[in-house]
Amino acid sequence: MARDWSAQSWRAKPIQQVPDYPNPDRLRAVEAELAALPPLVFAGEARRLRKSLAQVADGKAFLLQGGDCAESFAEFGANTIRDTFRVILQMAVVLTYGAACPVVKVGRMAGQFAKPRSAPMEEIDGVSLPSYRGDMVNGMEFEADTRRPDPDRLLRVYHQSAATLNLLRAFAQGGYADLFQMHRWTLDFVKGSPQANRYEDMANRITESLGFMEACGLTGDSVPQLRETEFYTAHEALLLNYEEALTREDSTQPGEHYSTTAHMLWVGDRTRQRDGAHIEYLRGIRNPIGLKAGPSMTEDELLRLIDVLDPNNDPGRLTVIARMGADAVESHLAPLARATKREGRKVVWACDPMHGNTVKASSGFKTRSVDRILKEVRGFFAVHHAEGTHAGGVHFEMTGRDVTECIGGAQAITEARLGDRYHTHCDPRLNANQALELAFLIAEGLKQERNLGKLAPPGLAAVS
Ligand code: TRP
Ligand code: MN
Repeated sequence: MARDWSAQSWRAKPIQQVPDYPNPDRLRAVEAELAALPPLVFAGEARRLRKSLAQVADGKAFLLQGGDCAESFAEFGANTIRDTFRVILQMAVVLTYGAACPVVKVGRMAGQFAKPRSAPMEEIDGVSLPSYRGDMVNGMEFEADTRRPDPDRLLRVYHQSAATLNLLRAFAQGGYADLFQMHRWTLDFVKGSPQANRYEDMANRITESLGFMEACGLTGDSVPQLRETEFYTAHEALLLNYEEALTREDSTQPGEHYSTTAHMLWVGDRTRQRDGAHIEYLRGIRNPIGLKAGPSMTEDELLRLIDVLDPNNDPGRLTVIARMGADAVESHLAPLARATKREGRKVVWACDPMHGNTVKASSGFKTRSVDRILKEVRGFFAVHHAEGTHAGGVHFEMTGRDVTECIGGAQAITEARLGDRYHTHCDPRLNANQALELAFLIAEGLKQERNLGKLAPPGLAAVS
């Protein structure tokens, strides 16, 4: 066990982003109730994810992480879960083909409800109310009652996460994840896309490969691996009292503690202070950990954080998720990647091309452009190619629904159309088509890189 650590030791540290609950007694009662509830995930599953991520750290697998910016109570339902799950898996098929290596699938799902905010209060027309911190804390509507932090929401998050996870497990193991069916849906997307010919070539090659397999008798019926997949969950560990209440000692490995709220937890760019509460909590649990790194991350700070979070240099333990912005990625990421390589640190490098590329449209909507997102991904690959490190994965905010929150893509969503179906509770998400398009473009790049070998220019640079 980590030295001087307990599931509560974070409480003695300075903390950011805590809601101001008006009823501390009720908060305490809710925490006690959560502590008595069953774990949502099992330690053995988190350990298996760590092993898969160790493959990524070693350059032998690719990480695909995606899902909502913030899940909500209002959008909770089987169709929302199914559609997001489906697009992530469709993307995974395309990426598995492009990279010719296993893709580790992780949803920002079943627990991603709390949001860090830049200001504790929001003011509209002279009225000041607590900022919306996600459905786990308060409601979005600008109204005094709704905005008051309510501890009972923690219980609702637990139950919604349990139901979501249950459905995800059923989909992953029950036949919905069938490779052949996933690809048939992707072919429908390609046929319907205004830029069909751009994706057709790769889609046809996948069709041919699957046809060959089928001819050889390898189908979902005969080979369970073709109809089943492993799907993991992750969220930002923002509300530490929730994580603490669901921290459990592994019954098979005494002394090892896991947060059982999700397989993987990450710490945000705003709460990653080395001496702060969030790092204190995360250093002691054995789940795979993500560390978001924005442009303010220095080499020194990164190495010190790695020392704290991954003292044993355990591959798969730590994923550094760079979110630099399309223009800053090359200059800011290169020294960090170089530093981890120099120090022999076996981290997974993933690219979050969403959070450094958020802009406000003239209409007032927060948005992101597909071009800028792709530009950051390309820069990320170029840096790792130049540094000789592995571009390990991508992290997207996306939904399976047909929203209009990000601009661009083959459907050419324009600024003027943002208002058509803008449903997000927080940041703008890629819709299903935009997400799948990006997967195709990244897969093409991965495939070129593979074909050209190490001496060639970075594959993604050739993708426009
Ligand atoms: N089991 C393999 C995997 O998860 C193959 C597979 C089955 C798959 N269904 C899938 C891959 C759906 C991607 C998406 O990699
Ligand atoms: Mn977000």
